Formats: sequence, C-alpha cells, structure tokens
Amino acid sequence: MKERTYIGDLAGHVGEEVTIKGWVDVRRDQGKLIFFDFRDMTGYVQGVILPAAAEAHAVGSKLRPEWVVEVRGKVNKRPDKNIQAEKQNGDVELEILSITVLNEAETPPFDVSGDGRDISEDIRLKYRYLDLRRPRLQRNIRMRDKIISFFRDYMHKNNFVEIETPILMKGTPEGSREYIVPSRLEQGKFYALPQSPQQFKQLSMVAGFERYFQIARCMRDEDTRGDRQPEFTQLDFEMSFVEQEDILQFTEAMFVEMVKALFPEKHISTMPFPRVTFKESMEKYGNDKPDMRKDKNDPNELAFAWVIDFPMFEKADDGTIQAAHHPFCSIKEEDVDKFMKGEDLFSIRANSYDLVLNGYELSSGSIRIHKADMQQKVFELLNINPEMQQRKFGHMLQAFKYGAPPHGGFAPGIDRTVMLLMNEPNIREVIPFPKTGEGKDLMMGSPSEVDKKQLDELGLEIKINKK
Ligand code: AMO
Repeated sequence: MKERTYIGDLAGHVGEEVTIKGWVDVRRDQGKLIFFDFRDMTGYVQGVILPAAAEAHAVGSKLRPEWVVEVRGKVNKRPDKNIQAEKQNGDVELEILSITVLNEAETPPFDVSGDGRDISEDIRLKYRYLDLRRPRLQRNIRMRDKIISFFRDYMHKNNFVEIETPILMKGTPEGSREYIVPSRLEQGKFYALPQSPQQFKQLSMVAGFERYFQIARCMRDEDTRGDRQPEFTQLDFEMSFVEQEDILQFTEAMFVEMVKALFPEKHISTMPFPRVTFKESMEKYGNDKPDMRKDKNDPNELAFAWVIDFPMFEKADDGTIQAAHHPFCSIKEEDVDKFMKGEDLFSIRANSYDLVLNGYELSSGSIRIHKADMQQKVFELLNINPEMQQRKFGHMLQAFKYGAPPHGGFAPGIDRTVMLLMNEPNIREVIPFPKTGEGKDLMMGSPSEVDKKQLDELGLEIKINKK
C-alpha cells in the first residue's frame, strides 16, 4: 500500500509529493485548470490540475462530487494573495500529478456539503449514510464520542467500574411501555428490552461493586418527540453509602469539568447550580424543568438547575396511583411517618432529583430503598398484590435481605446532553442512525414483517388490530 497522508496533515508536507485518499467534495472546471476540494476524515484541501498534467487532466475532467479517489500531488504553498487564512489548508494547495478512481458515485439525492436543514428529514434519514457526510453531522457525532469518552474517563478516575447489563431481560418499571422479544425455546414467553438498567445497577450495589456505571442503551415504546427516541443512551450510574448531597455534588463537578474541557466557549449561568424543590418549580415556573437562562438568545449560555423533592406517587391518567419516577425511590425522612401510615399519599416526597439544562430534563435519579420491608410497603401502596410483587420483583425483595447497602444513583441522558451542547433543535441530529417520529428506520426499513417460518418457530400468529 502506498503511504497515505491525511489531508489534515498536509501543512507539514509543503514542497513534498504525497498521496491522499478520500472523496471529491467539489469540482470547479475552468477548462485549462480544474480545481477540486478533496475531503477525508481529517478535513478538506484544494487541489488543482495544471494544463501540463495531461493524464491527470483526462481523469480529472470525468470526476464528479462524491467519487472516491487516490490523488498523488505536490503540496505547494499558495501565493500570498490566494491565502484563505480562515480555512483549513487555506495556505496550501495540492498540485495534482495523478488521480486513481477508487469508486464512482451516482449523484447524491441531496447536497451533502451544506447544513441540510432545508432538506426533507425523511429523505435525509433514508440516505443517512450520505447525510452523515455533511460537516455539521460529522462534528455532532465526533463531539458525541468526545463527550462519552470524557464521561467514561471521569467515571474510571473516580473508581467506577463499567458493568454491562442484559438487553434481554424482564420488564422494569420506568413508566413507559416496553418492547418485547419472543422466546423460541419457551414459546409463549417473552423477554423485555431494558427501559433502563435500573434494577441491575441496584443489584450491582448488593453485589458489592459500590460504584457502577454504564454507557447504557435504553428502549422505550413511547411516542417520539424532539427530545425522545425509542432507543437512547444514558450515562447510568449508581453509588453505595451515599446521600443525595453526594450525588448532586459529584454530578455537578463532572458537568462543570466536561463543559470546561470540551466547550470552553460556553459559560454556565450560575454556580453552584441553583436548586428548587418540585413544588417551588411548579409554582414559580409552571413546570418541573425550568429554563433559567438569563439570555435565551445566547447560544453559549448553559443554565443548569437542580429540581429536588419530587413526589413519590402521582395519579395516572386513568385515576389510579403510580410511582412518580419509579417504585425504588426512598422516602424523605420527614414524610416516612405518613408513608408508614399510608396517609395523604400524594403529598409524600421522595429523595429524588432531576438535573435540568436550558429547560430540558437532562437526568433523573434518587436515593433508593435498600430494605425489603420498605420496598414491599411501596408496592402495597401501589396496589401491587403480594403474588404480583413476587412474580415481578421477587429478586429485588430477596436481594435486599442479603446485606444491601444504602445506595442511590443518577442517569444523565447522553443524547439530550449532546443536543443541548451542540445547539441542535432535536436529538435526531446527534444520533447517528435515529428513527422517525413514528419510530421507523427509513434506511433499513424497520419495523418490518418476518417470514411465516420464523413466526412458526416462535409459536406466534399475527392478528392485526383495526385502528
Ligand atoms: P429517567 O426515565 O428519568 O430515569 O431517564 C433518565 C434520562 O434519560 C433520558 N431519557 C431519554 N432520552 C431520549 N429519549 C427518551 N425516550 C428518553 N427517556 C429518558 C433523559 C432522562 O432525564 N433509571 C432511572 C434513573 C435513575 O433513577 O437512576 C431513569 O431511567 O435525559
């Protein structure tokens, strides 16, 4: 293989002959001179075919945008009058000596060099692999990787261990509908995909890991919105022997450091982050994710805030009682009496907290129940009978009897974090292969029908419900 020079390194090779590989970004044919912008994963450079390079000229006149090429050329310093200081490689130019076409390309269905905001999203998603070529999405996906790496490093530096928890599991109550997967070996039975690793992370505390984290994929069958996808990613973590204050401080320091390291141009409105109770937030802002920015037109302002003391229970749409967050939250000391007596349930507060950023809920968490009798009491108040408790949560009740430490955790949503930091209007812009508002993958064509043979193996028959 010929030695390849990355476009981003060309400035260090002035006067040398090099080989670059990549895509034709733009072609400007001026007859005698043909100009190109070439692109690889490290950036862009302008190339020119001079009239004397007859063979290169013949190939170059055929080239079209998005063709894949290998180009041999000499890196020349540009004359002063042609220097474009603000551009990458704006002071050099590749004098093209020869071009090998590695692959031709049809004309893409849309322009991949602009920001793409004026193109129908359905078309963008159908050709996502092309859409991802645009600089804005390249930047988003690469920043997403940097943010995730930052969190992973931060966690490891603080003695957390990353533990992979199952994707095929049993339902866990995070308040949404779950996706289910049929079992072939036990026909009529199903796995559920995780809405979050909530139970596994708590069980990892019982297992003595003390500090767990995971860059965790979660699946929820809920209506998709700009800040919601059927599958999304959390920085999920859990700690033993901590109180609410420890988790708030740990998280706050992590976000402050992340912003400082990766987004130095941004500024945090108020530090330490302001704190409001759920009640105050509802009264003052009319919602539980207040937007505390001082200047909503400032794209670099980050207004983090804590919302604390969420209620433990709430009324479901059908009037029944349900856990406001999930049934594993512990009860605030001052409200334990009421809780034990089962009185005035909707006024009982949990040790649960959210982190909010610019009016979006970034993360939720709580200090958990770690005693079986307390956990049972919550299930009772939620009208889950003992038989159902055993069937659904027997493993948790059991585990709490074998020396479960006090513990609590948090789960910042990665997609929302990246969306807000990259000033994007929705999370689809920061997820490499997202689904549409109707939960479809327009590129692969999922969800899709399966063969009769596969259904037979699973013991399933399809009955379509008329809407
Ligand atoms: P919760 O359900 O509040 O808590 O989720 C935590 C964070 O995950 C993100 N999030 C989503 N992001 C994109 N699309 C979605 N559909 C979606 N749903 C949630 C949000 C949210 O704040 N197990 C608990 C955490 C805990 O108690 O430790 C949980 O999952 O940023």
